[in-house]
Amino acid sequence: MPLFRGAVNIVCEEPQTATRHTIGAVRLSATGSSPALQPGRAVGHAGVMSHNLPPVPEVVRAEPLERLRQRTSEKWTAYPADVLPLFVAEMDYPLAEPVAKAMIDRIRASDSGYVASAGPLAPAFARYATSTWSWEVNPEWVFTTTDVSVAIVETLRVAISPGDAVVITPPVYPPFFELIPEAGGVVVEVPLIGGPGAAVAGNTVVDEPWSLDLAGLEAAFAEGARAFLLCNPHNPLGLVHSRATLSAVANLAQKYGVTVVSDEIHAPLVHSDAEFTPYLSVSAEARKHGITVTSASKAWNLAGIKCALMVAGSHRGHTLLKKLPLEVGARSSILGLHASVAAFTSGTPWLDGARVAIEENRALLASLLAERLPAVRYLEPHASYLAWLDFRALGWGDDPSVFALERARVALVSGPEFGEQGRGFARLNLACSPEVLTEAIDRLAASARMFSAEQVSVEK
Ligand SMILES: Cc1ncc(COP(=O)(O)O)c(C=O)c1O
Repeated sequence: MPLFRGAVNIVCEEPQTATRHTIGAVRLSATGSSPALQPGRAVGHAGVMSHNLPPVPEVVRAEPLERLRQRTSEKWTAYPADVLPLFVAEMDYPLAEPVAKAMIDRIRASDSGYVASAGPLAPAFARYATSTWSWEVNPEWVFTTTDVSVAIVETLRVAISPGDAVVITPPVYPPFFELIPEAGGVVVEVPLIGGPGAAVAGNTVVDEPWSLDLAGLEAAFAEGARAFLLCNPHNPLGLVHSRATLSAVANLAQKYGVTVVSDEIHAPLVHSDAEFTPYLSVSAEARKHGITVTSASKAWNLAGIKCALMVAGSHRGHTLLKKLPLEVGARSSILGLHASVAAFTSGTPWLDGARVAIEENRALLASLLAERLPAVRYLEPHASYLAWLDFRALGWGDDPSVFALERARVALVSGPEFGEQGRGFARLNLACSPEVLTEAIDRLAASARMFSAEQVSVEK
């Protein structure tokens, strides 16, 4: 198997501790290496590039399984130890040092009371948004709450009236189906278009890139939808919407007076081959009708630390968010607030290293599937660490995650939970070690071979 041929471990001395660390394993895979780790680039001390080239990120590596199994989060407690848990969106990397330190410092200071306001988080996020995406955020229009799910519910609660229609675009993050009724709304589905085998060229069925159905959105808005819950970038596809698409959405929102709640939780995890566009940066129309909900929690693996942001882009949006009860902000965690400040202020080197590891696994997954499980189709994501796998050709039924768990002992997220369009699909989390990913695909491939042998013997 050629995947790991040419692996080079880069070892450095850390001056403070004089301990040796492997800081990167440059993998020259059959499908090419990550753009951030091109072979032939000179790496100096501690991964610093010579010749004025941009610094090479210190690749973040997943922790060993024995250590991961000591974690008490959902990912590591939902299934017995013989199951490889590639389901819930948690990463197997160690925390970013500045983020961990920020929380430890607060604990040492016994600073564990209520959150009074967005405080230092508002300017920290605004600086991050400007330097990362050239998006100008007014810190006075930034509010905090518990997590992005709560941010969605509370924003919708003030944006719509009970019974109003709210649009989502399945296949999409399953809780969207529940958060809208929780806010008093009614879900209206405008499915994405495209996907594996979505088009025909001559006599051949071919893949088509996923995209928002703008005509479908316009029809739903014209029929009276009052809000659109946009997933930007889109979970589970890793789809990064283009500026042109978002601008078209903003024009429609303006035309029909629809509030757009843009969930940008995966935005810092956009890959090096894509460009993220914050919704509120696209136009005056977007700023007028849009609210962004986001957090540091997906990118820096802080889901249990509980702090998220709601960001307005106009006086109209600010007036809407000011209607939120004070309690909504007070339910943020003070540890989450300080962890988020650290992430947005000092977390970029870690994030760059995590993204290299994710992009390596994205390519590894493509080559493993091509080599060992070619019937499963996969359109590579351009954001985050979730892979939307099409199992339909294997005949594992509407919910292949059931088969994967029972037969292969690999936990995936059930495709149909993302909407009707998810029948025959499952979502895989690739923010794990390359070894775990390889083992998972090997197990799935062995189960597929066994299943097709059983089918043949039944037919005889
Ligand atoms: C698109 C999207 N929105 C919201 C969430 C949930 O965020 P939180 O844990 O902050 O509620 C997730 C979690 O994976 C997600 O993928």
